Amino acid sequence: MTSIELLLQRQSTPLLTKPAPNPHDLDKILAAGMRVPDHACLQPWHFTVITGDGLQRFSDLLVHSSDSASANLTRIAKKPFRAPMIIVVSTEFVQHEKVPTQEQLISVGCCAHAMQMASVALGYGAMWRTGGLAYNTKIKQGLAIKEHDEIVGFLYIGTPCKEQELKTTKSFEKKVSYWE
Ligand SMILES: Cc1cc2nc3c(=O)[nH]c(=O)nc-3n(C[C@H](O)[C@H](O)[C@H](O)COP(=O)(O)O)c2cc1C
Repeated sequence: MTSIELLLQRQSTPLLTKPAPNPHDLDKILAAGMRVPDHACLQPWHFTVITGDGLQRFSDLLVHSSDSASANLTRIAKKPFRAPMIIVVSTEFVQHEKVPTQEQLISVGCCAHAMQMASVALGYGAMWRTGGLAYNTKIKQGLAIKEHDEIVGFLYIGTPCKEQELKTTKSFEKKVSYWE
């Protein structure tokens, strides 16, 4: 797959299974996350890699942090097992006179995107998810994320369960104007 094919064919993989990225590939995925545009080089992000027994720990955290009814708790407990690896992408905002948190948040979003693309380039599949759990204060605390920081996404990564059909490309005509 060429770089332009990777960009033009990007899509998510909701159904993932083992194997997770091996340590060598994981290092590449994390390095791609570090390579994003970053005003003033603040590196305002943190990546928490959850795999192996960590998935059960994470599941316990989701359940204990949730105030849902018990039927819902069963569903929540299963969420981390949708993939063999999750990278929690969160902010680590830095006070800076020229770089507002809005710009830093955009950079951290780029991290999630870059790591999804790197995962695909290495032959894995990935899906960026959030949902209410990403905005839950207790979950943030459990992940040692500071109160003023944000979870930008849970990046689920693994091996695609099945061959996926390529979605049709969305037309850009209505989204672009030209000054010529
Ligand atoms: C910040 C963010 C949060 C998202 N959260 C969810 C989510 O919780 N659940 C979900 O099904 N899709 C979520 N998505 C969308 C998927 O990642 C995916 O982009 C979408 O299903 C469209 O599929 P595609 O990536 O193959 O085009 C989120 C996307 C972004 C950028």
